[in-house]
Amino acid sequence: MNPEPRLAVHGLTVAYGKPPRGRVVIDGLDAQIPAGRFTVIIGPNACGKSTLLRTIARLHKPLAGTVTLDGADVHQIPTRRLARRLAVLPQSPLVPEGVSVTDLVARGRSPHQSWWRQWSPADEKAVARALSLAGVADLAARPVDTLSGGQRQRVWIAMILAQDTDTLLLDEPTTYLDLAHQIEVLDLLRRLNTEDGRTIVAVLHDLNEAARYADEVIAMRDGRVITQGSPDKVITAANVEAVFGLRCAVVACPVTGKPLVIPHITTGEPTHS
Ligand SMILES: Nc1ncnc2c1ncn2[C@@H]1O[C@H](COP(=O)(O)OP(=O)(O)OP(=O)(O)O)[C@@H](O)[C@H]1O
Ligand SMILES: [Mg+2]
Repeated sequence: MNPEPRLAVHGLTVAYGKPPRGRVVIDGLDAQIPAGRFTVIIGPNACGKSTLLRTIARLHKPLAGTVTLDGADVHQIPTRRLARRLAVLPQSPLVPEGVSVTDLVARGRSPHQSWWRQWSPADEKAVARALSLAGVADLAARPVDTLSGGQRQRVWIAMILAQDTDTLLLDEPTTYLDLAHQIEVLDLLRRLNTEDGRTIVAVLHDLNEAARYADEVIAMRDGRVITQGSPDKVITAANVEAVFGLRCAVVACPVTGKPLVIPHITTGEPTHS
């Protein structure tokens, strides 16, 4: 067991807009993200998953509460130092116009540079490795704004891999990907976790993928954590109904033995013509 969490969130309250008219979307949230594990955040649309991830990465200032990284308040960590520890892939990153894949991925190296330490062979190597790990080396010369949604998604993943941090936060990294590429990306994250010991935190909508890849699942609803723990403990029919309002059966996956969610049919039998 890891005695110290990599990230700990205590009493986090986040609102959009200024008080008193601001709307609280995360409300006194507590969560612990263990070091060296693969944590998946699940929850219905608009429950605050992206807001939580952005607040952890200091892209939002909370109204109240703290986020600590290895015990240090993230708001006290200098920006460049934090960016060498923590990389974040937002849900819908904006693609800069006319920038090539290599140049975008190279931006992941900026926290490692300074006026006295410019672009180096180590940066070159990190970019090449990231392009190859994310499976986009053959797209290196293409402008990112000419790529398909799935290709772009993998380029963003390459960018945060180039950042070479020990903790990665990814907001729906498999959106836009076909099933084979979803598995490829999740397998890559799993390898980064098991082989390199990196701490992975991902928001996923597919509960079966969450069950298959996560060591730890955080289930959110209405800006709060409803339950957190192993997939076996969290992905149960009762919890899926409590969190998503969805009636389902949960069986053991015949391949992995992990929970497999089968939604109940609520609107009559499917028709076959
Ligand atoms: N920039 C913003 N300004 C105002 N409200 C916002 C903003 N971003 C998000 N919200 C609101 O905050 C709530 C939580 O949004 P958030 O994006 O964190 O949800 P989510 O769980 O990531 O949802 P999804 O699964 O659809 O991505 C929603 O009600 C959303 O409308
Ligand atoms: Mg979101």
